[in-house]
Amino acid sequence: MSYLYEHNSIGHMAQSTAVFSPQLFAGHTVFVSGGGSGIGKAIARAFLATGARVWIASRKEERLKEAWQELAAYGECHYAVLDIRDTEAIDHVVQQIRDKGHNIDILINNAGGQFPSPAEDISANGWHAVINNNLNGTWFMTKAFASNFFMQQHQGIVISIIANIYRGFPGMAHTGAARAGVENLTKSLSVEWAPYNIRLNALAPGIIRTEALDQYPSDFLKDIETKIPLKRMGTPEEVAHWCLFMACPATAYTTGETVYIDGGMRLWGGIWEVPDKEQG
Ligand SMILES: NC(=O)c1ccc[n+]([C@@H]2O[C@H](COP(=O)([O-])OP(=O)(O)OC[C@H]3O[C@@H](n4cnc5c(N)ncnc54)[C@H](OP(=O)(O)O)[C@@H]3O)[C@@H](O)[C@H]2O)c1
Repeated sequence: MSYLYEHNSIGHMAQSTAVFSPQLFAGHTVFVSGGGSGIGKAIARAFLATGARVWIASRKEERLKEAWQELAAYGECHYAVLDIRDTEAIDHVVQQIRDKGHNIDILINNAGGQFPSPAEDISANGWHAVINNNLNGTWFMTKAFASNFFMQQHQGIVISIIANIYRGFPGMAHTGAARAGVENLTKSLSVEWAPYNIRLNALAPGIIRTEALDQYPSDFLKDIETKIPLKRMGTPEEVAHWCLFMACPATAYTTGETVYIDGGMRLWGGIWEVPDKEQG
C-alpha cells in the first residue's frame, strides 16, 4: 500500500497523486513548528502517514490540541505549547521530548507569520515582531535542535518554510528580509554543519490556500490566480510532499538549497501593483 493523496478539492486540473512508501519515515521523529494549522498540519499529517512519530508545537493550546486529536488518527503524535521566540521555552520543550525518551531526527521550521503593509508604514514594533518571529525564532529553534539532538546523533535534517522572496517581497518587506535571512542562514549552516551530517534546506511556497489568507484585506489577493502561471493557488499538501521528498534518502546529497513551490509565480506576476510616480 502506498501513501496516496488526491487533491479532490481543487478539481481534476490540479489532481496529483504523491506516492511515498507508508514506512518511509518509520523509526524517525519529526518536529513541526506551527503544526496545528494550515501548511504545518498538512506536513505533520504527511509524515504521520509515512510512518513517522510527530511532535507539533505552537502558542495557542486549544487549536493545537484540536489538531493533535485529528492527527492522532494517522499515527503517534505529541504536542507542546511553544513560542519559538522564547529560548527558555524551547529548552523546556527539548526537555519534554527527552522526558518521553524521544530524539528528533527532522525539524520543520514552519511557524511564522506577517502582515501586509507598505514599507514606509511599518512601525519599529511591527518590524521587530516580524523579524523576531520569522528570523530569530527560526534560528533559536535550529540552534537548539542541532545542539541537543542532531550534533549528538551525528545526523539531522532541517527544512525551513520561507516565502516567495525571489524578487524581493514588495508589500511585506519585513518578512522578505526575515525569510532572506533564513535562506542565507540555511546556506551558511549547510556548510558549517556538514561535518555533523546535518542537511538544511528551505522551501519557498508561493500562495498556498490556508485559513491564514483570510487575515489579509480582501483586495490584497484579488485576482491572484491570474498572476500565477499555473492559474491556481497551491495546496498545503503540495508543500508537505516536498518536505517528505527533502527529508527522504532520495535527496541525501542536497543541502543549502531552496525550492520554490509557487506555480511559477516567482518568474511572472506579483501581488504588489507599482503606483504611478508621485508628482513633486
Ligand atoms: N499560506 C501561504 O500562502 C504562505 C506562503 C508563504 C509562506 N507561508 C508561511 O508558511 C508558514 C505556514 O503558513 P500557513 O499558511 O499554514 O499559516 P498559519 O496557519 O497561520 O500557520 C502559522 C503557524 O505558526 C504558528 N506560529 C506563529 N508564530 C509562532 C510562534 N512565535 N511560536 C510558535 N508558533 C508560532 C501558528 O500557531 P499559533 O498562533 O498557535 O502560535 C500557526 O500554527 C508560515 O510561516 C507562513 O508565513 C505561507
